[in-house]
Amino acid sequence: MCGIVAYLGNRDAYPILIEGLRKLEYRGYDSAGVALMQDDHIQMYKKKGRVDELDQYCSGRDTRGTAGIAHTRWATHGEPNEENAHPHIAEDGSMALIHNGIIENYLSLKKQLIQEGFTFKSETDTEVLVHLIKSIQKKEDVALPEAVMMALSMVEGTYALAILSVDDPDRLIVAKKGSPLLIGRDGHDYFVGSDGAPIVEYTQDVVYLEDGDVGVIKRGKALKIRNINDEKHLLKRPSFQKLELSLEQLEKGGFDTYMLKEIFEQPKAVIDSMRGRINLKKDVVSLGGIIEYEQKMLNARRFIIVACGTSWHAGLVAEHLFETLVRIPVEVEYASEFRYRDPIIREDDVLIAISQSGETADTLAAVEIGKKHGATVIGICNVVGSTLARETMAGSYTHAGPEIGVASTKAFTAQVTVLTLMALSLAEKKGTISKSQYHQLINDLESIPNKISQVLEQEQHIQRIAQYVATKPNAMFLGRGVNFPVALEGALKLKEISYIHAEGYPAAEIKHGPIALVDTNMPVIVIATEQKTYDKVVSNIQEIIARKGTIISVVTEGDTAVKKMSKFCIEIPKTEELLTPLVASVPLQLLAYHVAVIRDCDVDKPRNLAKSVSVE
Ligand code: G6P
Repeated sequence: MCGIVAYLGNRDAYPILIEGLRKLEYRGYDSAGVALMQDDHIQMYKKKGRVDELDQYCSGRDTRGTAGIAHTRWATHGEPNEENAHPHIAEDGSMALIHNGIIENYLSLKKQLIQEGFTFKSETDTEVLVHLIKSIQKKEDVALPEAVMMALSMVEGTYALAILSVDDPDRLIVAKKGSPLLIGRDGHDYFVGSDGAPIVEYTQDVVYLEDGDVGVIKRGKALKIRNINDEKHLLKRPSFQKLELSLEQLEKGGFDTYMLKEIFEQPKAVIDSMRGRINLKKDVVSLGGIIEYEQKMLNARRFIIVACGTSWHAGLVAEHLFETLVRIPVEVEYASEFRYRDPIIREDDVLIAISQSGETADTLAAVEIGKKHGATVIGICNVVGSTLARETMAGSYTHAGPEIGVASTKAFTAQVTVLTLMALSLAEKKGTISKSQYHQLINDLESIPNKISQVLEQEQHIQRIAQYVATKPNAMFLGRGVNFPVALEGALKLKEISYIHAEGYPAAEIKHGPIALVDTNMPVIVIATEQKTYDKVVSNIQEIIARKGTIISVVTEGDTAVKKMSKFCIEIPKTEELLTPLVASVPLQLLAYHVAVIRDCDVDKPRNLAKSVSVE
């Protein structure tokens, strides 16, 4: 949420910053800005809207400089406009700052700063930081790095920030708490990013800042890091490591959008998420990352799954997988709700946090609560080295590769793949699954990538269905059992990228209210694949047809009954019931995608959303 890029070195900073912003735009895209150190002053440009608009505005203007900071914003405090866009600059123009995160005590600090005579140009919490640092410098007569450290110890909330200042034009100051920040180096060239995307083109030698770290980058000198929580402010040894990201992974590879590319990458994402976790004889599943905590998981009284958005839907699928296969009760919680309840957590509970980015603020807060209560805390995430990966006791990565499209697709199927492997591995050790069922499920799981490919071949057919759905103001998605989360995910995909109002329900629930919405204008998308409750779903479909609703169905290849009742029908290959979400979610992603394209929506950057929600 919001993107930061900064540079100091021997090259021209502007192209590095603007290209970096383009790579970070998926994190926020309502306004953008750049500040460059030019001789003895800071030159700043800001624009409401996309990075392209900022770049156009800057073309023909003075963009010299070999040090600079840049930001793309997802508004939290104050609407998207130029005043609220970052960087924010000190009243005398001597210092510019960019910030991700939220300063929670900004109102009380602001009041105090106004009393001191500071004036505010924006409605943001960030501007408080600028004036606070200046106020400390005035009162304490300290150098800027010290003033930054003092200011940050007065601040509550989260931040990743980068500062440029005229008192030393050859220096960048960066800091982190709660929001990620990494520094890459190539000789004496330094690159700063809120993730690896703007950096990887130049270097893979990076250091991830830890909470409380303040880094001072000086031209031609080694990086210096201190931590505000260390009373003595002793120098830390920066631990550089390899950035696990490649440039090709960040490109569109011939597709019109990242989302379409990512939908089509799913067979590979599922294979990569299984790789090395099923042995050659295909009879042992093991996840190296959780081995140490496997016994705790096997003895768990209960699994508590916490997540947000699409990852929460993967959690709902996992509820079926774990309860059916491992026979341990599962609770699936919205992380945002869980963190503010007073949840009952015991030491023999296992909390599993699922997150694509590994940076979702609510999910991270839920992890802290789990740890505080002594539960075993396991993470499942896609971004290597993310905060979730570092804050959990153990975990498994999904190997889906970078997901750039704001609407999650391949991360979901990769999460469900890893959760299936986890459930299989535990079930076998716990003895809650027969040998033959275990082997059968491993074989079934291995066949999933091919089945997804077969669904992807139906893109043109799904495009035709999209022509119909795109004309409707509403849509309803229904499913039962393990396909109920698929219905929720289908509805989420449609609403978030096409702005058509969509709801997902368990098929049997609609008679308790939602069926009142059904009329000739309501497309009802039903997942009616072969499953225990198939006949029940057929009855639910009949109830909808009796109210003149239009059925669009997702069925198992060869189905006749539901097909006959449907205006449009998508056939998917026969799949073991528990694994159906891995295949059935794919046509719904394609449907949402094409509806959004027909409605001329910006698929990769839907309005008001951001990829990585690192604020509450
Ligand atoms: C945002 C994204 C969703 C994602 C959710 C949770 O809302 O737009 O696609 O599902 O955050 O993100 P996470 O990174 O924790 O999976």
